[in-house]
Amino acid sequence: MKILVTGGAGFIGTHTLIELYRAGHTAVVVDNLSNSCHEALRRTAEIIGVDGIPFYECDICDRIRLELLFCDHQFDACIHFAGKKAVGESVEMPWEYYDNNIGGTLTLVDVMRRHGCRNIIFSSSATVYGEPAEMPITEACPKGVCTNPYGWTKSMIEQILADMQRADPQWNVVLLRYFNPVGAHPSGRIGEDPNGTPNNLMPYITQVAVGKRAELGVFGDDYPTPDGTGVRDYIHVVDLAAGHVSALQAIGRGCGLEVYNLGTGHGYSVLDMVKAFERVNGVHVPYAIKPRRAGDVATCYSDPSKALRELGWQARLGIDDMVRDSWNWQRQNPDGFAAD
Ligand code: NAD
Ligand code: WQD
Repeated sequence: MKILVTGGAGFIGTHTLIELYRAGHTAVVVDNLSNSCHEALRRTAEIIGVDGIPFYECDICDRIRLELLFCDHQFDACIHFAGKKAVGESVEMPWEYYDNNIGGTLTLVDVMRRHGCRNIIFSSSATVYGEPAEMPITEACPKGVCTNPYGWTKSMIEQILADMQRADPQWNVVLLRYFNPVGAHPSGRIGEDPNGTPNNLMPYITQVAVGKRAELGVFGDDYPTPDGTGVRDYIHVVDLAAGHVSALQAIGRGCGLEVYNLGTGHGYSVLDMVKAFERVNGVHVPYAIKPRRAGDVATCYSDPSKALRELGWQARLGIDDMVRDSWNWQRQNPDGFAAD
């Protein structure tokens, strides 16, 4: 299939491009590079073994440029990653998050349908479950109250796409709810390259390990979990990327509206992650216990069995692979892509 990948220069997008090409698909990337760079795409093409990946530097809110892009290409489906994703920033700048994430999606899907492309895979998040009613979380678990505007954009976009699909059954919509993506391509050439101070645990750990930050702050050790620190379902980004290729099969057979959790089904605590990182990589990660972070839940992990049953997808890589590949990327690229 020929796939439009919005946000394809980003962390999950670049890894997904590799899996798409590996499976025999082709892709065109649209990205405004607001949180990524040309170098990431250059290295992705190098890993794939192609001269370049067709790329449009364009904002998905820009209807005219999107129209021109769809005049140039006939797409079988769109994998829609483009969006802002920093939880804390979304609390400070809610309008920018609603405008970019929801406004961009509304423009994208309108241009898609005008050009006869009604197949979309959307990057959603476990955050839509809010304070989950059950653990592990299945797709049947009701959506909950989000704790920040970023989360609401995911929840609202899910609703918009589901309503559009119900009104026009020609649409095939797959909502993928990611748990906690970590890791990097095993080559160490591409990986997560956050701007400024990382919000997420794994890039914080790797920046401490490489000496860019003095110590990790562990946000709370008094949760009702085995060691008191928060438990999450970390998933290797290469497994996550493969999940998108599997979701294309569902699109291909006319799935209508489907929701899938993409996680491993295993919960690890913050200290489990720190200890695994130290053990596998032979580096020390100093940490200090800090107060809980507002909006955090104690425990969040998936039941990913629906994706296995219906898509034949399951995560293959474990915690040791995640911490090894995250470190391999950070060690080789202490300043991310900026070094080139
Ligand atoms: P990322 O920031 O690395 O990638 C997103 C890409 O979208 C970036 O390259 C950015 O430049 C681009 N972009 C943003 N707004 C755009 C716009 N208006 N027009 C064009 N391009 C735009 O993030 P990621 O970690 O690769 O996440 C990809 C998607 O998955 C996002 O939608 C994110 O919300 C979602 N998601 C991520 C996580 C996670 O922890 N990484 C978890 C759940 C869901
Ligand atoms: C994991 C655990 C923290 C940093 C977020 C978004 C979610 C999705 C994925 C998407 C928690 C603890 C963290 C640190 C710490 N995002 N922690 N010290 O909060 O589960 O999910 O990313 O696009 O929507 O909310 O992930 O990596 O921030 O935190 O102790 O410096 O690590 O308290 O228990 P989270 P995270």
